[in-house]
Amino acid sequence: MIEGSEGLFAHTEEFPNPSAQARLAALVGLDDLIDRLVTDAAARLDPTMIQRWSRAVHGQVIPAIGALTDRTPLFVFAGDVGVGKTEVAEVLGQAIATRTDTDVTLYPLSLTARGRGAVGEMTTLLTRAFERITAEFVRARRSDGVASSLGVLLVDEADALAQSRELAQMHHEDRAGVNALLRGIDGIRIDRLPVLTILCTNRLHALDPAVQRRAATVEVFTRPTHEQRAALLTRLLIGSKLSPEDIDALAFATGETAGHPYSYTYSDLRQRLVPEVVLAAYRQGVAIDSVIAREVLERTQPTRPFEAGRL
Ligand SMILES: Nc1ncnc2c1ncn2[C@@H]1O[C@H](COP(=O)(O)OP(=O)(O)O)[C@@H](O)[C@H]1O
Ligand SMILES: [Mg+2]
Repeated sequence: MIEGSEGLFAHTEEFPNPSAQARLAALVGLDDLIDRLVTDAAARLDPTMIQRWSRAVHGQVIPAIGALTDRTPLFVFAGDVGVGKTEVAEVLGQAIATRTDTDVTLYPLSLTARGRGAVGEMTTLLTRAFERITAEFVRARRSDGVASSLGVLLVDEADALAQSRELAQMHHEDRAGVNALLRGIDGIRIDRLPVLTILCTNRLHALDPAVQRRAATVEVFTRPTHEQRAALLTRLLIGSKLSPEDIDALAFATGETAGHPYSYTYSDLRQRLVPEVVLAAYRQGVAIDSVIAREVLERTQPTRPFEAGRL
Protein backbone atom coordinates (compact mmCIF):
# COMPACT_ATOMS: atom_id res chain seq x y z
CA MET A 1 0.00 0.00 0.00
CA ILE A 2 1.31 3.40 -0.89
CA GLU A 3 0.54 6.25 1.41
CA GLY A 4 -0.06 9.83 0.42
CA SER A 5 2.96 12.06 0.05
CA GLU A 6 2.83 13.01 3.78
CA GLY A 7 3.77 9.47 4.71
CA LEU A 8 6.18 9.02 1.82
CA PHE A 9 9.37 9.65 3.75
CA ALA A 10 10.07 7.97 7.07
CA HIS A 11 10.88 11.30 8.74
CA THR A 12 12.32 14.43 7.19
CA GLU A 13 14.99 16.23 9.16
CA GLU A 14 16.09 19.85 9.06
CA PHE A 15 19.73 20.83 9.45
CA PRO A 16 21.50 22.32 11.25
CA ASN A 17 20.33 20.74 14.49
CA PRO A 18 22.22 19.81 17.67
CA SER A 19 21.52 16.07 17.61
CA ALA A 20 22.87 15.73 14.08
CA GLN A 21 25.90 17.74 15.16
CA ALA A 22 26.53 15.25 17.97
CA ARG A 23 26.20 12.31 15.56
CA LEU A 24 28.57 13.97 13.11
CA ALA A 25 31.10 14.63 15.86
CA ALA A 26 30.91 10.99 16.98
CA LEU A 27 32.19 9.66 13.65
CA VAL A 28 35.82 8.64 13.56
CA GLY A 29 38.18 8.43 10.61
CA LEU A 30 35.89 10.04 8.05
CA ASP A 31 36.99 13.68 8.10
CA ASP A 32 38.56 13.59 4.62
CA LEU A 33 35.60 11.85 3.05
CA ILE A 34 33.08 14.21 4.60
CA ASP A 35 35.16 17.22 3.66
CA ARG A 36 35.29 16.08 0.04
CA LEU A 37 31.54 15.41 -0.13
CA VAL A 38 30.68 18.72 1.51
CA THR A 39 32.88 20.65 -0.92
CA ASP A 40 31.14 18.95 -3.85
CA ALA A 41 27.69 19.69 -2.41
CA ALA A 42 28.66 23.30 -1.67
CA ALA A 43 29.75 23.80 -5.29
CA ARG A 44 26.31 22.65 -6.45
CA LEU A 45 24.55 24.94 -4.02
CA ASP A 46 26.54 27.98 -5.01
CA PRO A 47 28.42 27.54 -8.30
CA THR A 48 29.48 31.20 -8.16
CA MET A 49 32.00 30.43 -5.41
CA ILE A 50 33.94 27.98 -7.49
CA GLN A 51 33.65 30.24 -10.54
CA ARG A 52 35.11 33.07 -8.50
CA TRP A 53 37.96 30.83 -7.43
CA SER A 54 38.66 29.85 -11.05
CA ARG A 55 38.72 33.52 -12.08
CA ALA A 56 41.09 34.31 -9.25
CA VAL A 57 43.55 31.52 -9.99
CA HIS A 58 43.10 31.00 -13.77
CA GLY A 59 41.97 34.45 -14.82
CA GLN A 60 38.74 32.91 -16.20
CA VAL A 61 36.09 30.28 -15.59
CA ILE A 62 37.73 27.29 -17.26
CA PRO A 63 35.58 24.54 -18.87
CA ALA A 64 36.57 22.11 -16.12
CA ILE A 65 34.30 24.03 -13.75
CA GLY A 66 31.31 23.19 -15.93
CA ALA A 67 32.34 19.55 -15.94
CA LEU A 68 32.10 19.64 -12.17
CA THR A 69 28.87 21.56 -11.79
CA ASP A 70 27.10 19.64 -14.61
CA ARG A 71 27.62 16.27 -12.95
CA THR A 72 24.59 14.35 -11.83
CA PRO A 73 24.24 15.10 -8.13
CA LEU A 74 24.28 11.44 -7.14
CA PHE A 75 26.53 9.91 -4.50
CA VAL A 76 26.64 6.12 -4.23
CA PHE A 77 27.68 4.74 -0.84
CA ALA A 78 28.63 1.07 -1.01
CA GLY A 79 30.15 -1.41 1.39
CA ASP A 80 29.48 -4.07 3.94
CA VAL A 81 26.77 -3.85 6.59
CA GLY A 82 27.64 -1.70 9.63
CA VAL A 83 30.41 0.41 8.11
CA GLY A 84 28.75 3.82 8.27
CA LYS A 85 26.89 4.32 4.99
CA THR A 86 23.55 5.24 6.51
CA GLU A 87 25.11 7.25 9.32
CA VAL A 88 27.20 9.40 6.95
CA ALA A 89 24.26 9.82 4.56
CA GLU A 90 22.03 10.92 7.42
CA VAL A 91 24.43 13.48 8.90
CA LEU A 92 26.07 14.81 5.74
CA GLY A 93 23.33 17.46 5.56
CA GLN A 94 24.49 18.75 8.93
CA ALA A 95 28.06 19.14 7.66
CA ILE A 96 26.81 20.90 4.52
CA ALA A 97 24.46 23.19 6.47
CA THR A 98 27.15 24.36 8.88
CA ARG A 99 29.81 24.78 6.19
CA THR A 100 27.61 26.71 3.75
CA ASP A 101 25.29 28.40 6.23
CA THR A 102 22.31 27.04 4.27
CA ASP A 103 19.22 25.15 5.41
CA VAL A 104 19.37 21.52 4.40
CA THR A 105 16.51 19.01 4.59
CA LEU A 106 16.93 15.24 4.58
CA TYR A 107 14.29 13.08 2.86
CA PRO A 108 14.97 9.45 3.77
CA LEU A 109 13.51 6.63 1.73
CA SER A 110 14.27 3.02 2.60
CA LEU A 111 13.58 0.61 -0.22
CA THR A 112 14.03 -2.56 1.80
CA ALA A 113 11.70 -1.50 4.56
CA ARG A 114 8.96 -0.07 2.44
CA GLY A 115 9.42 -0.63 -1.24
CA ARG A 116 9.40 -4.35 -1.77
CA GLY A 117 5.97 -5.41 -0.73
CA ALA A 118 3.93 -5.24 -3.85
CA VAL A 119 4.77 -5.36 -7.51
CA GLY A 120 5.54 -1.89 -8.78
CA GLU A 121 5.52 -0.37 -5.31
CA MET A 122 9.20 0.56 -5.40
CA THR A 123 8.69 2.32 -8.73
CA THR A 124 5.76 4.33 -7.42
CA LEU A 125 7.67 5.18 -4.26
CA LEU A 126 10.66 6.51 -6.19
CA THR A 127 8.53 8.41 -8.69
CA ARG A 128 6.57 10.09 -5.89
CA ALA A 129 9.70 10.90 -3.96
CA PHE A 130 11.23 12.69 -6.94
CA GLU A 131 7.95 14.49 -7.71
CA ARG A 132 7.65 15.73 -4.16
CA ILE A 133 11.26 16.87 -3.96
CA THR A 134 11.09 18.57 -7.36
CA ALA A 135 8.00 20.49 -6.27
CA GLU A 136 9.75 21.57 -3.11
CA PHE A 137 13.03 22.73 -4.66
CA VAL A 138 11.95 24.02 -8.05
CA ARG A 139 12.08 27.59 -6.79
CA ALA A 140 15.06 27.20 -4.47
CA ARG A 141 17.63 28.55 -6.95
CA ARG A 142 17.83 32.34 -7.35
CA SER A 143 18.41 34.02 -10.70
CA ASP A 144 22.13 34.37 -9.93
CA GLY A 145 22.32 30.56 -9.72
CA VAL A 146 22.76 30.42 -5.97
CA ALA A 147 20.41 28.10 -4.10
CA SER A 148 18.76 29.17 -0.87
CA SER A 149 18.34 25.64 0.45
CA LEU A 150 19.40 22.08 -0.29
CA GLY A 151 17.51 18.80 -0.24
CA VAL A 152 19.20 15.46 0.39
CA LEU A 153 17.23 12.50 -0.93
CA LEU A 154 18.50 9.35 0.74
CA VAL A 155 17.65 6.13 -1.06
CA ASP A 156 18.81 3.70 1.60
CA GLU A 157 18.99 -0.09 1.47
CA ALA A 158 18.82 0.17 -2.30
CA ASP A 159 19.77 -3.47 -2.81
CA ALA A 160 16.36 -4.11 -4.31
CA LEU A 161 17.38 -1.80 -7.14
CA ALA A 162 20.87 -3.22 -7.29
CA GLN A 163 19.55 -6.67 -8.12
CA SER A 164 18.43 -5.39 -11.48
CA ARG A 165 21.82 -6.02 -12.95
CA GLU A 166 21.33 -9.74 -12.56
CA LEU A 167 19.70 -9.91 -15.93
CA ALA A 168 18.71 -13.53 -15.77
CA GLN A 169 16.20 -12.99 -12.97
CA MET A 170 15.47 -9.41 -13.86
CA HIS A 171 11.82 -8.68 -13.50
CA HIS A 172 10.03 -6.04 -15.41
CA GLU A 173 9.25 -4.26 -12.12
CA ASP A 174 12.90 -4.14 -11.09
CA ARG A 175 13.84 -2.47 -14.34
CA ALA A 176 10.97 -0.05 -13.87
CA GLY A 177 12.40 0.83 -10.45
CA VAL A 178 15.81 1.56 -11.94
CA ASN A 179 14.17 3.61 -14.68
CA ALA A 180 12.23 5.65 -12.14
CA LEU A 181 15.47 6.38 -10.30
CA LEU A 182 17.26 7.35 -13.52
CA ARG A 183 14.39 9.61 -14.59
CA GLY A 184 14.40 11.24 -11.18
CA ILE A 185 18.13 11.95 -10.96
CA ASP A 186 18.30 13.04 -14.60
CA GLY A 187 15.44 15.46 -13.99
CA ILE A 188 17.23 16.95 -11.02
CA ARG A 189 20.38 17.46 -13.08
CA ILE A 190 18.57 18.99 -16.05
CA ASP A 191 16.53 21.34 -13.87
CA ARG A 192 19.63 22.11 -11.79
CA LEU A 193 17.67 21.55 -8.63
CA PRO A 194 19.65 21.96 -5.42
CA VAL A 195 19.00 18.33 -4.51
CA LEU A 196 21.59 15.72 -3.75
CA THR A 197 20.63 12.05 -4.06
CA ILE A 198 22.55 9.54 -1.96
CA LEU A 199 22.05 5.87 -2.76
CA CYS A 200 23.30 3.26 -0.28
CA THR A 201 23.84 -0.36 -1.20
CA ASN A 202 25.58 -3.41 0.22
CA ARG A 203 26.00 -4.83 -3.26
CA LEU A 204 27.89 -2.45 -5.51
CA HIS A 205 28.73 -5.16 -8.02
CA ALA A 206 25.03 -5.70 -8.65
CA LEU A 207 24.15 -2.03 -9.03
CA ASP A 208 22.75 -1.17 -12.43
CA PRO A 209 25.58 0.18 -14.62
CA ALA A 210 23.42 3.08 -15.78
CA VAL A 211 23.08 4.20 -12.17
CA GLN A 212 26.78 3.75 -11.44
CA ARG A 213 27.77 5.63 -14.57
CA ARG A 214 25.81 8.69 -13.45
CA ALA A 215 27.20 8.78 -9.94
CA ALA A 216 29.39 11.81 -9.29
CA THR A 217 31.13 9.71 -6.70
CA VAL A 218 31.07 6.08 -5.61
CA GLU A 219 32.38 5.71 -2.08
CA VAL A 220 33.18 2.23 -0.87
CA PHE A 221 33.02 2.22 2.91
CA THR A 222 35.24 -0.27 4.71
CA ARG A 223 35.53 -1.79 8.16
CA PRO A 224 37.57 0.34 10.56
CA THR A 225 41.36 0.11 10.64
CA HIS A 226 43.28 -0.51 13.87
CA GLU A 227 43.63 3.24 14.43
CA GLN A 228 39.94 3.83 13.76
CA ARG A 229 38.92 1.05 16.14
CA ALA A 230 41.26 2.44 18.79
CA ALA A 231 39.88 5.95 18.27
CA LEU A 232 36.27 4.79 18.55
CA LEU A 233 36.94 2.60 21.59
CA THR A 234 38.86 5.40 23.29
CA ARG A 235 36.05 7.81 22.67
CA LEU A 236 33.44 5.45 24.09
CA LEU A 237 35.41 3.99 26.99
CA ILE A 238 37.18 7.08 28.25
CA GLY A 239 36.78 7.37 32.02
CA SER A 240 36.59 3.60 32.52
CA LYS A 241 39.39 1.57 34.08
CA LEU A 242 40.75 0.59 30.68
CA SER A 243 44.25 2.00 30.17
CA PRO A 244 45.44 3.21 26.76
CA GLU A 245 47.32 -0.11 26.51
CA ASP A 246 44.11 -2.05 27.26
CA ILE A 247 42.29 -0.10 24.55
CA ASP A 248 45.07 -0.78 22.09
CA ALA A 249 44.91 -4.50 22.93
CA LEU A 250 41.15 -4.39 22.39
CA ALA A 251 41.63 -2.63 19.05
CA PHE A 252 44.09 -5.35 18.12
CA ALA A 253 41.78 -8.18 19.20
CA THR A 254 38.90 -6.69 17.18
CA GLY A 255 41.02 -6.70 14.01
CA GLU A 256 41.64 -9.67 11.74
CA THR A 257 42.76 -12.63 13.85
CA ALA A 258 43.13 -16.36 13.38
CA GLY A 259 39.64 -16.82 14.83
CA HIS A 260 38.01 -14.36 12.46
CA PRO A 261 39.75 -13.34 9.23
CA TYR A 262 37.81 -10.05 9.18
CA SER A 263 37.73 -7.21 11.64
CA TYR A 264 34.78 -5.94 13.68
CA THR A 265 32.57 -3.37 11.95
CA TYR A 266 31.76 0.03 13.43
CA SER A 267 28.39 -1.29 14.47
CA ASP A 268 29.91 -4.44 16.01
CA LEU A 269 31.93 -2.14 18.26
CA ARG A 270 29.42 0.54 18.91
CA GLN A 271 26.13 -1.32 19.07
CA ARG A 272 27.25 -4.71 20.38
CA LEU A 273 30.65 -4.97 22.03
CA VAL A 274 30.72 -1.74 24.03
CA PRO A 275 27.08 -1.89 25.22
CA GLU A 276 27.63 -5.53 26.27
CA VAL A 277 30.74 -4.52 28.21
CA VAL A 278 28.68 -1.87 30.00
CA LEU A 279 25.92 -4.34 30.85
CA ALA A 280 28.39 -6.95 32.10
CA ALA A 281 30.17 -4.52 34.42
CA TYR A 282 26.89 -3.04 35.60
CA ARG A 283 25.42 -6.45 36.43
CA GLN A 284 28.50 -7.27 38.48
CA GLY A 285 28.44 -3.84 40.10
CA VAL A 286 32.08 -3.18 39.19
CA ALA A 287 34.04 -0.77 36.99
CA ILE A 288 34.75 -1.60 33.37
CA ASP A 289 38.23 -3.11 33.22
CA SER A 290 40.25 -5.29 30.88
CA VAL A 291 39.04 -8.53 32.47
CA ILE A 292 35.41 -7.71 31.72
CA ALA A 293 36.24 -6.38 28.28
CA ARG A 294 38.05 -9.60 27.39
CA GLU A 295 35.28 -11.77 28.74
CA VAL A 296 32.65 -9.96 26.65
CA LEU A 297 34.88 -9.97 23.59
CA GLU A 298 35.05 -13.77 23.72
CA ARG A 299 31.33 -14.10 23.23
CA THR A 300 30.78 -11.11 20.91
CA GLN A 301 31.94 -12.15 17.47
CA PRO A 302 32.20 -9.80 14.48
CA THR A 303 29.58 -9.80 11.74
CA ARG A 304 30.54 -11.89 8.74
CA PRO A 305 31.25 -9.88 5.59
CA PHE A 306 28.10 -9.52 3.54
CA GLU A 307 29.75 -10.60 0.34
CA ALA A 308 33.44 -11.09 0.91
CA GLY A 309 35.56 -10.16 -2.06
CA ARG A 310 32.71 -8.97 -4.22
CA LEU A 311 33.12 -5.22 -3.74
N1 LIG B 1 33.12 6.17 11.17
C1 LIG B 1 32.35 5.84 12.21
N2 LIG B 1 32.66 6.27 13.45
C2 LIG B 1 31.89 5.94 14.50
N3 LIG B 1 30.78 5.20 14.43
C3 LIG B 1 30.43 4.74 13.24
C4 LIG B 1 31.18 5.04 12.07
N4 LIG B 1 30.58 4.47 11.00
C5 LIG B 1 29.49 3.84 11.50
N5 LIG B 1 29.39 4.00 12.83
C6 LIG B 1 28.34 3.47 13.68
O1 LIG B 1 28.11 2.14 13.29
C7 LIG B 1 26.72 1.87 13.27
C8 LIG B 1 26.31 1.33 11.91
O2 LIG B 1 26.46 2.31 10.93
P1 LIG B 1 25.48 2.38 9.68
O3 LIG B 1 25.70 3.68 9.03
O4 LIG B 1 24.10 2.05 10.09
O5 LIG B 1 26.05 1.20 8.77
P2 LIG B 1 25.61 0.78 7.30
O6 LIG B 1 24.52 1.70 6.83
O7 LIG B 1 26.86 0.87 6.47
O8 LIG B 1 25.14 -0.64 7.43
C9 LIG B 1 26.02 3.16 13.66
O9 LIG B 1 25.73 3.12 15.04
C10 LIG B 1 27.04 4.19 13.40
O10 LIG B 1 26.87 5.28 14.25
MG1 LIG C 1 22.54 1.21 6.42
